[in-house]
Amino acid sequence: MTSSTVRPRTAVAAITAGPGLAERARAVLPTAAHAFYAAGADEQISAGEAAGAWRSRRLAPRVLRDVSAVDTGTELLGSRLDSPVLAGPTAFHRMAHDEGETATAAGVAAAGSLMVLSSRATRYPEDVAAAAGPWWYQVYWLRDRDLTRRQVERATAAGARALVLTVDAPYVPPRATGGLPLPLPQDDELCRSVGVATRLPGWEQDPSVGLGAIAELGRISGLPVLVKGVLRADDAQACVTAGAAGVIVSNHGGRQLDRAVATADVLPPVAAAVGDRVPVLVDGGIETGTDVLIALALGARAVLVGRPVLWALALDGADGVASLLNSYRSQLETAMALAGAARLDDIHADLLHG
Ligand code: FNR
Repeated sequence: MTSSTVRPRTAVAAITAGPGLAERARAVLPTAAHAFYAAGADEQISAGEAAGAWRSRRLAPRVLRDVSAVDTGTELLGSRLDSPVLAGPTAFHRMAHDEGETATAAGVAAAGSLMVLSSRATRYPEDVAAAAGPWWYQVYWLRDRDLTRRQVERATAAGARALVLTVDAPYVPPRATGGLPLPLPQDDELCRSVGVATRLPGWEQDPSVGLGAIAELGRISGLPVLVKGVLRADDAQACVTAGAAGVIVSNHGGRQLDRAVATADVLPPVAAAVGDRVPVLVDGGIETGTDVLIALALGARAVLVGRPVLWALALDGADGVASLLNSYRSQLETAMALAGAARLDDIHADLLHG
């Protein structure tokens, strides 16, 4: 498949965060691309449960607090952001839009947020960096160590402010693709032309990787290293002790171990184990600003969104991504005001009922 198979777009209605986005994007994406983005692993149980785990929580709003000015601004590992809703790392953005990750980066920057660039990107990191505000680089520990090192050095030189080591993918399981063959971009013209690492031998994740990778990536890059894909308090503790600058609670959007627990359910014990030592972030099924409020009340400092960014990118490129992230922020502002929280620091577990 090449990017030319993405259908031309006409004027697009404003993009609002919410559960209807995947369906909207179906109209503009090639069927196989939509299926690849939407897919979960195996029976798709974890993928199907993620959003519901946020939606099942109930809030106990405070009253008579001054919420005349609500501020969603935050600082994360030295980057000032207008919103705690970040764009998570997802592969192959040129299947959604001709400009791929550079459009995503421009949209995220326009919304005053931060992008995590996937190491399975379909644009060069230097080009993405030129369009981006603050960005982090996601990395897998590959069988080919030298390739890992070169990817990290290149992203560091291009201006990444942190690395995100994804640790929940020692192998890639079968994923539902709606019965269609996976549109594997490494087999097409598009990705050969941008020379993605997946073309090279040794690109698979190294399943023997251990905790030592965290410090080693820090040494190679001089950057803070967050660990993504943690679902247990003991693992979170071990990662922090091994030098992690942040922990991202994630089950990879339900694309790795099917029946892995919903992130909403394990965020509180992970956040409790980590305490104030490093920020805890979370992703998976976060569809609205109220989901974000609940995630922060359960202990997250910020959240990442994966598929919603891909749907917005497919629908309206950089503008779509900016519109989506602005919509999350404005929904969060409203939810905070109605819950009696004027600043992110006012969001605590007491806002949750039961
Ligand atoms: C991902 N994810 C992912 N994670 C990662 O660390 N590196 C990657 O290259 C990718 N690629 C990727 C592709 C696609 C199509 C999806 C849907 C997901 C996982 C991603 O970062 C994140 O954990 C989930 O997408 C979060 O769930 P939501 O927001 O998609 O529900």
